[in-house]
Amino acid sequence: MIDHITIGRIQDAAQIAEVVSDFVTLRRRGVNMVGLCPFHDDRSPSFYVSPAKNICKCFSCGEGGSPIHFVMKHEQMSYYEALKYLARKYNIEIVEKELTNEEKQQQSDRESMLILNEYACNYFVKTLHSHPEGRSVGLTYFKERGIREDIIKKFQLGYSLEERSAFSVEAQKAGYNIDFLLKTGLSFGGEQNRPLTDRFRGRVIFPVHSISGKVVAFGGRILKKVENVGKYVNSPESDIYSKSKELYGIFFAKSAIVKQDKCFLVEGYTDVLSMHQSGIENVVASSGTALTHGQIRMIHRFTENITVLYDGDTAGINAALRGIDLLLEDGMNVKVVLLPEGEDPDSFARKQNAESFHRYISENETDFIRFKTDLLIEEVGDDPIKRSGMISNIVNSIAIIPDAITRSVYVQECSQSLKMPEKVLISEINKIRAREWDKKKEQKHREENRLSVGNSILPKANNDLKSDTAISTKTVITPFDRFEREIIRYIVRYGNFPIYQKFETQKRKAGKTVIEEQVLIEEGPGVTEFVQFDLDRDNITFSNDIYRLMFEKAVEHIGDKDFNSGNFFLNYPSNKVSKLASDLLSDRYQLSNIHSKILGEKVGDKSSRLLEQNHLSNFVPRATTELKNAYVMQKIDEVKEEIKISDHDRYPELITQLKQLQDIKRVLAKELGERIVLKY
Ligand code: CTP
Ligand code: MN
Repeated sequence: MIDHITIGRIQDAAQIAEVVSDFVTLRRRGVNMVGLCPFHDDRSPSFYVSPAKNICKCFSCGEGGSPIHFVMKHEQMSYYEALKYLARKYNIEIVEKELTNEEKQQQSDRESMLILNEYACNYFVKTLHSHPEGRSVGLTYFKERGIREDIIKKFQLGYSLEERSAFSVEAQKAGYNIDFLLKTGLSFGGEQNRPLTDRFRGRVIFPVHSISGKVVAFGGRILKKVENVGKYVNSPESDIYSKSKELYGIFFAKSAIVKQDKCFLVEGYTDVLSMHQSGIENVVASSGTALTHGQIRMIHRFTENITVLYDGDTAGINAALRGIDLLLEDGMNVKVVLLPEGEDPDSFARKQNAESFHRYISENETDFIRFKTDLLIEEVGDDPIKRSGMISNIVNSIAIIPDAITRSVYVQECSQSLKMPEKVLISEINKIRAREWDKKKEQKHREENRLSVGNSILPKANNDLKSDTAISTKTVITPFDRFEREIIRYIVRYGNFPIYQKFETQKRKAGKTVIEEQVLIEEGPGVTEFVQFDLDRDNITFSNDIYRLMFEKAVEHIGDKDFNSGNFFLNYPSNKVSKLASDLLSDRYQLSNIHSKILGEKVGDKSSRLLEQNHLSNFVPRATTELKNAYVMQKIDEVKEEIKISDHDRYPELITQLKQLQDIKRVLAKELGERIVLKY
């Protein structure tokens, strides 16, 4: 379907950072870039993009690969579809031959549905602009609402004729299968060979574009008010459309969201259009439903700042109060703008020019907690019972915020505006958090128990909390030293050597003989680079001065292909460094028996260095995880000591902290349990 030369051209053109940036905001970190992983619920950036190696990888969930792999996974496309996607992005022409019937069959249902939607979208657009009814009814409607031509084109607005089956008939003539007309919901009916009915007939059409610009659904608006007929009809849920996962306008908003580092949230299709028209492009709509975590995560990949626009009437205010806790919970900075009474963003934007609209927003934007507090104070007055209800309402919202510093800022502020002692608010918040924590823990526990039944031969993480007490009685003089040394050992021995490499056997003709060769197809980050990335995201540095110095030197040479870490440190001017380097380079190690079994290799089968080198992707993350674990252990001890000596007021807060730490410890223990143990 696509010839090899073109595939090569696409592979050469596709830059991993550019490809990933269409879906995730990346920040530079050293020679690499990091962001929130789009493949799992990521709260601190674990998604790592290496422009030099042209790959991405999540160090938490393991997902990633080349630009093509990323697109396949993220967009759930086939290899062929992903190539086409990249070709479009980089303006590479693909000469496609007509698909044979067999090839058509092979396209997945998802792809077929997307292709049909694209066809339908074009059909509705054409109808709006070229068909007499489209022009006189549909286009006139948009024009009367003041929607500009360029906005109509950009959002691919369309029109579906009144006639019962006009679209279905046309689509079938063009060769589209009834199955897919039904599956996408474009048509319904059709039982016993009766004709299909167009779902959107007699409506103007708003196509819903996915984050990558594919039309996954449609909304159809009726033109005049009709009793008992819904104003909007939307595509039903399907393999390609889940209403709670899409945000209307995200495709057209994402680059503006990144540029402004902020996203506006509105309710409806027309709100998005009108705001674009007045020059505000970083806007998405929840399409009339309550926000979901999935939608928030999509916004969160591009920015942490969200401003919600609401009508200034009571319904709008109540809507503002509901649903926002979800945004807080995901760590977003939430602001609210109330519009003048009776206005929605659409009607308001049309009465303003871009400048006055912007001004209104910046003058009326209020932090959500402040907004809620002020509003409730006004509403509640002096009624003591209502007052306590109000306080617990506000405290509940603050308790949801994941970041402790943000929480304490709000506590200070609310203590003033509510005239409540900070202590009381804190203690309430801690109670709520402790309760939530227990709930989550219990849930997680249940899930884990389900997962661990007859699972694997790998050693299980020790979830037993008894080990805490064992550690706290142990006297360790330099608790981090041996873990730091271990990491430095890998840096000295391997420096910029990639922590993993993937090869593929490829056949090549040389004259008459066919030669099989191993071709490198993918490469992980270098050892130093990985360590930098992994420690940095948890804000950990080396406590030992020599190690820290060596690490900094190694980091300086990250981009240097010819850097020989071992030689560099052996010949380093400081005696302490060179002595240490020589110790580390000659370090002997062996795999414990059980773990060599897991590896499926007998120790001694290969030279020991080669064995180690082949498992760096396991050993190096293990070493950094052990160091993190040591930090957590120490912190647990500290908190336990504090609990012993502090007064009861602080008790809930400390218990919460302890529980959080123990939870982190469990995660780390699990990770360590899954990695191979080395013995020295
Ligand atoms: N909506 C829907 N189905 C409905 C009503 C509403 O899907 N029956 C969604 C649409 O996405 C709509 C949004 O909820 O855009 C907000 O609804 P509403 O405020 O009633 O519509 P507007 O967008 O204001 O549309 P218009 O200005 O054309 O009346
Ligand atoms: Mn409206």
